Amino acid sequence: MPWVIILAEAPGGGFAGFIEVNLRSHADGCDPSRPVGYIEGWYVAPEFRRRGVGARLVAEAENWAREQGCREMASDTWADNLDAQRAHEALGYAVVDRCVLYRKSL
Ligand SMILES: CC(C)(COP(=O)(O)OP(=O)(O)OC[C@H]1O[C@@H](n2cnc3c(N)ncnc32)[C@H](O)[C@@H]1OP(=O)(O)O)[C@@H](O)C(=O)NCCC(=O)NCCS
Repeated sequence: MPWVIILAEAPGGGFAGFIEVNLRSHADGCDPSRPVGYIEGWYVAPEFRRRGVGARLVAEAENWAREQGCREMASDTWADNLDAQRAHEALGYAVVDRCVLYRKSL
């Protein structure tokens, strides 16, 4: 499956943030009959936040997924990451499920 990282350049050089996106064969809440664009990582440096950089990165990731033939995009974040949840929701992402992770030593 293809996988890309899109960088946001900072005005004075260096990078303000990045988004990592790939195709998953399926994602919770999405049509299982076709691949889904999936946001694997999304980060904007604190000094560049709330200025539209994150939204621009998501828009570019969505454009890339569209070019791959996707009709849906999906993502996830931690239950206690309320800033990321608000940002996802502001960009049109709806909650489709919540899960609890487990482990056990063998
Ligand atoms: C999540 C993150 C990438 C957002 O980047 P950003 O550059 O601040 O986002 P933007 O300024 O483009 O904001 C996009 C939208 O989300 C909203 N938003 C962003 N942060 C928000 C917050 N803390 N609370 C409420 N809304 C917020 C903005 O208002 C904007 O909505 P609008 O288009 O209606 O105005 C950034 O906060 C971050 O890197 N956080 C730490 C890493 C992280 O949690 N990544 C996500 C893991 S999945």
